[in-house]
This record gives sequence, structure tokens and C-alpha cells, in this order.
Amino acid sequence: MAAAFAILWFNLIVEIGAMQKTSDIIWQDTQHQVLFELIDQIKEVPFDPDIFLRLKLYAEHHFILEETYMANLDYPHAAPHIEAHNRFCEELAAMLDNDPSMHLALQVLLSDFLYKWLKLHVLGIDKKLEDFVMKSSSQ
Ligand SMILES: [Fe+2]
Ligand SMILES: [Fe+2]
Repeated sequence: MAAAFAILWFNLIVEIGAMQKTSDIIWQDTQHQVLFELIDQIKEVPFDPDIFLRLKLYAEHHFILEETYMANLDYPHAAPHIEAHNRFCEELAAMLDNDPSMHLALQVLLSDFLYKWLKLHVLGIDKKLEDFVMKSSSQ
């Protein structure tokens, strides 16, 4: 069962051409990889008019899960982490009504901005949460 899940996870990662591993918590890393893939799709031609909405919904799903762990484990650094999640959602909300399809350079700019933001987040503030969850053995 565990082996089958590991193969499934590996296939998913290969399929989406993932970036480096971001977490030892499988659900957290898998969701990060999906977020990076969605951010990458912003650059695709033709532009997918639903991509910002799909990214927003998936990001909210991911943030809610992380924040549920924070609440359940009384995570002491929850407030700034939740604030960072909210900022990402605000940036995305501002992009939702944009149609950058006439300007590939704008698609690339928005995608790169979100990519850099997310990379900093998952390799910074999320690592602290990962350590805390791993030590609590409630992953
Ligand atoms: Fe995360
Ligand atoms: Fe986070």
C-alpha cells in the first residue's frame, strides 16, 4: 500500500516536472508541486483564462490545510504565517480580472512573481511549520 502510494506520488512528480522537494510531509510537498505547476501554466500559450481561478482555489485549499494543522497543534508562529497566506491570496485576487494573453511578457512576469513568492514561502516559513508538524508526529 505504502509502495503503491510512493509510486503514484513519484509518477505525479515526474508528470508535472516538479521543482526540488519542498517538504518531508508528503501531502505538503505534493500540494506545493501542484501550486508550482499551476503557476507555470500562467505562461502557457494560448493563455488559459481560468488559470488564476484554478490557482486561487488550489492555493486556498492548501492554505486551509496548513492552517488546520497550525490550529490543531497550537502552532506558536501561526499569525505571521496566516498573514503571508492572506497576502498571496490578495495578490492573486488582484490578478483574477486580468487577461494578460495579449502580452506574453506580462504572463511571464506574473508567473515569475508568484513563483518567486511561493518558493521563498515554501523554503522559508513553511519549513518551520514542517519541522513543528514532524516533531509532533501528527502528519
Ligand atoms: Fe505551503
Ligand atoms: Fe504556508
